[in-house]
Amino acid sequence: MSRIKIFDTTLRDGEQSPGVNLNQLEKMEIAKQLERFGIDRMEAGFPASSQGDFEAVKAIADNIKGTSVTGLARTIKSDIDTAWEALKNSEEPRLHLFLATSPIHMTYKLKQTPEQVIQTSVDMVSYAREKFPQVQWSAEDATRSDWDFLAKIIEQVIDAGATVINLPDTVGYTTPAEYGKLFRYIKETVPNIDRVDLSCHCHDDLGMAVANSIAAVENGATQVEGTINGIGERAGNAALEEIGVAMKIRSDYYPYETGLKLDEIKRSSDLVAKLTGMYVQPNKAVVGRNAFAHESGIHQDGVLKNAQTYEIITPEMVGLNSNTLFLGKHSGRHAFKDKVKEFGIELSDEKLKEAFKQFKQLTDHKREVTDDDIYTILMEIKTDT
Ligand code: KIV
Ligand code: ZN
Repeated sequence: MSRIKIFDTTLRDGEQSPGVNLNQLEKMEIAKQLERFGIDRMEAGFPASSQGDFEAVKAIADNIKGTSVTGLARTIKSDIDTAWEALKNSEEPRLHLFLATSPIHMTYKLKQTPEQVIQTSVDMVSYAREKFPQVQWSAEDATRSDWDFLAKIIEQVIDAGATVINLPDTVGYTTPAEYGKLFRYIKETVPNIDRVDLSCHCHDDLGMAVANSIAAVENGATQVEGTINGIGERAGNAALEEIGVAMKIRSDYYPYETGLKLDEIKRSSDLVAKLTGMYVQPNKAVVGRNAFAHESGIHQDGVLKNAQTYEIITPEMVGLNSNTLFLGKHSGRHAFKDKVKEFGIELSDEKLKEAFKQFKQLTDHKREVTDDDIYTILMEIKTDT
């Protein structure tokens, strides 16, 4: 089994979803849950994009220890310097640099020749390596780039010190067969490619982000990028929970493993949905409300006789059971504590006591206390100084 590294970008590409704007506290709650989920690398934000993002990345880099924290930067010195200030206290400072390599981006957006794009990338990777021990370089719009040009620039950025090479399908244009071939080509053509991690990063414009990511892994990718619930720019990114479960369920076919703790999926999905306001469609694979619901008589009959007739994933595998807890006026302190844990919120004993008191008061007036009610109580108490 080869171990595939999981790179989560919920807090950066995911946060680029239209209408999503997470504050520092919310980003930190998600970061802690990503750590519990067993993510190897998390992209906490884009430090040079705003003061708020800088502070959130810094807070995450200072506090998260079990997962490597990275920040995004353009190939310009001031972005790299700002990212360093945000990330320098993390356990293993990691930077993510990107520059477009497709003719359309180079001509119209960057207004740079291919030679200039190579030079800028090489210079900025070397500059970044003066500080960062880990530098990822991404060929933005790789799937609409010339493959020979990609091989040439990748060879040079590896020589300049890049430790991870990422080939994003920025506009969700590729197909599994084509993306797989691109990874195979880069693996076979670029000298020293085995010294670095080769990463895939897929968008879902044609609904193929997860399939494309798995095709990349089958052809040499050692890192997979994506987000919780597949949120992200336009149609979103590859959904990490789907990739983790697919690799586990089809381990007979895929000789790969991840460090993901699959029973943290439901909790991660719920937290991200709640904090971003991007609710999951009912029929979404793995985390949708209907993913484990059986409606037709024939299916219900089959499931009652043997769940495996129509269920390839058990609800327990993705942590669903721990989430069916209903809290009302008869619920005790333990159940309440579990619910707080489910949200990924940490409270001092004193604040927890106060939250429980307010919850009990609410149950006197409201027959059904929803997760939203509890979440509001918790966040008010947490932010109360
Ligand atoms: O989709 C993309 O190309 C990106 C880059 C910044 C890596 O998100
Ligand atoms: Zn992206």
